[in-house]
Amino acid sequence: MTGFDSSTPNAVPPVHGVDGAVAPSAGVSTTYVTSADALPAGSAWDPGTEHGYDGELAAVLIPAEKLQAKITELARAVAADHTYDTPPLLICVLKGAVMFVTDFARALPIPSELEFMAVSSYGSATSSSGVVRILKDLDRDITGRRVIIVEDIIDSGLTLSWLLKNLATRGPAAIDIVALLRKPEAVKVEVDVRYVGFDIPTDFVVGYGLDYNERYRDLPFVGLLGEHMYR
Ligand code: IMP
Ligand code: MG
Repeated sequence: MTGFDSSTPNAVPPVHGVDGAVAPSAGVSTTYVTSADALPAGSAWDPGTEHGYDGELAAVLIPAEKLQAKITELARAVAADHTYDTPPLLICVLKGAVMFVTDFARALPIPSELEFMAVSSYGSATSSSGVVRILKDLDRDITGRRVIIVEDIIDSGLTLSWLLKNLATRGPAAIDIVALLRKPEAVKVEVDVRYVGFDIPTDFVVGYGLDYNERYRDLPFVGLLGEHMYR
């Protein structure tokens, strides 16, 4: 939500935590994941093997079951807050959020509608610049709709803050954001994100939609790439 619709129940003012991070609504508790939670690959176990990525991953950071349990929790919280007759319009930001939005929509106990948008932020493979270009725009008008942006990860927040401004000009009734992952230490632009699944370390992560040079999106978990893969 962007603050332009402050008369509605969904427009809760941001609550700022100690590190400047925005706290989610009472309905969701963001899970803190640290490097100590990572399940490291070793000589006896390689999480990449059954997906054809032998020797490429350093660790599993968030296993598939934990992702799915959190998605159920996020979906219930979003549904509890959505007390309107018209279904929410889920906007999936391609490609990273595609796994998340399909699981999220299926976990939602209320009907929803789906739209896709593809944006590209100019920058290197592992960092974002904030200069955003629309590669694929929405197919439909969002005037008067309650929009939920479904995002894979908020790193600097630059992509999302640009997207919020862009969508806000199209006259939606409200915009909320649900993000599966957030890197709190890396937030350069403060974005009011109501629903956040996991706060993760600043390490580069792959899997469950997230890529490195288009690889690893197909993994069912979030993992850490071996340093030898990108250094
Ligand atoms: P931001 O603009 O810096 O918030 O990041 C925008 C996009 O960068 C995300 O939507 C992801 O597609 C990508 N990204 C950021 N961090 C990671 C990561 O750790 N792994 C893979 N992609 C990432
Ligand atoms: Mg993305």
